[in-house]
Amino acid sequence: MDPEITFSELTDDQMPAVTALCTDALDLAEDAAEAGAILTTLRVRAVADRPVVGFVARRGGTPVGLVIGSISRRKAGLGHVDLIAVAPDSRRRGVGRSLLVRIEQALAGLGATEVLLAGNPPHYAWPGIDVRYTPAICTALALGYRQDRKAWNMTADLSYPESPALRSTEAAETRLAGQGVVVRRAEPADLPALTRFARETFGGSWDGELANSVDRADAGCHLALRGGEIIGFAAYGSSRPSWFGPMGTAPSAEGSGIGGVLLRRCLADQRAGGHDRAQISWVGPVPFYSGSAGARIERVFFLYRKTL
Ligand SMILES: CC(C)(COP(=O)(O)OP(=O)(O)OC[C@H]1O[C@@H](n2cnc3c(N)ncnc32)[C@H](O)[C@@H]1OP(=O)(O)O)[C@@H](O)C(=O)NCCC(=O)NCCS
Repeated sequence: MDPEITFSELTDDQMPAVTALCTDALDLAEDAAEAGAILTTLRVRAVADRPVVGFVARRGGTPVGLVIGSISRRKAGLGHVDLIAVAPDSRRRGVGRSLLVRIEQALAGLGATEVLLAGNPPHYAWPGIDVRYTPAICTALALGYRQDRKAWNMTADLSYPESPALRSTEAAETRLAGQGVVVRRAEPADLPALTRFARETFGGSWDGELANSVDRADAGCHLALRGGEIIGFAAYGSSRPSWFGPMGTAPSAEGSGIGGVLLRRCLADQRAGGHDRAQISWVGPVPFYSGSAGARIERVFFLYRKTL
């Protein structure tokens, strides 16, 4: 290990410097471009929801490595590594290994007996390690992690007006209106009913993602209602501005075209927000997204776990 490298706990005042580090160290351009949003999600927002800890590696005062981890709120004893990144010119010198060892110890100190290299919803930046971050996969294997699940995103192309992802929803909304279905943007006052609907209909908890989507810059949520009751929703931007999800349609309303309308309303917002592509994250019903928005599977993630 390089003796010039020092380690310290990540603190708020270091956020600008570690954002610059991640912009440099996240090799995939679409991740580098959202480094600021990713760090805000994993470090600033996540703290409201779960214990978060991070470490910075420095050489001569400059950050060259970062790791952020957190404890699962859904399962006792489960820790997550949410992000690890080492500056390109400091790789293969043991920095990544040291950061992972430190975060494992810190998570163990917070009660973790098992650590996942996988997203920790509701505040996650990736479902797992994108397979194109191959050095990260090698690092995980070198540190004794074993692969369990796979996950994938779908990409919706927003780069040209005729894209199936940007198909107008007008005719479908007129048809739905004839059936008593109103489609509109969600407002803060909708949140209690929306989170209740999501919980009761789909189980689990999307509370955090929904709260982060409604009435926030770079994010949004659209609803379908019948007789004042929510029967479907779609949200985007809760963790990352270019990412879409979650969404859900009540089983009683499935097949009516509501899901496609809600999805494309969100994608139109994301296009208006300047995005050329949207990531439909951690899917899900592939034929639905392919049929409703011409989306294709693109990003594939391996998820890893290790017993401490
Ligand atoms: C993944 C990453 C953090 C590794 O950091 P690092 O400081 O280079 O890692 P280390 O030097 O501690 O390597 C530890 C071990 O992992 C393995 N490893 C790391 N990079 C490797 C590579 N490119 N090829 C093969 N094995 C590799 C090796 O076994 C290595 O041990 P060794 O050098 O003694 O052989 C770094 O490559 C990175 O920042 N990548 C881009 C960001 C990223 O992918 N993050 C994950 C998504 S969140």
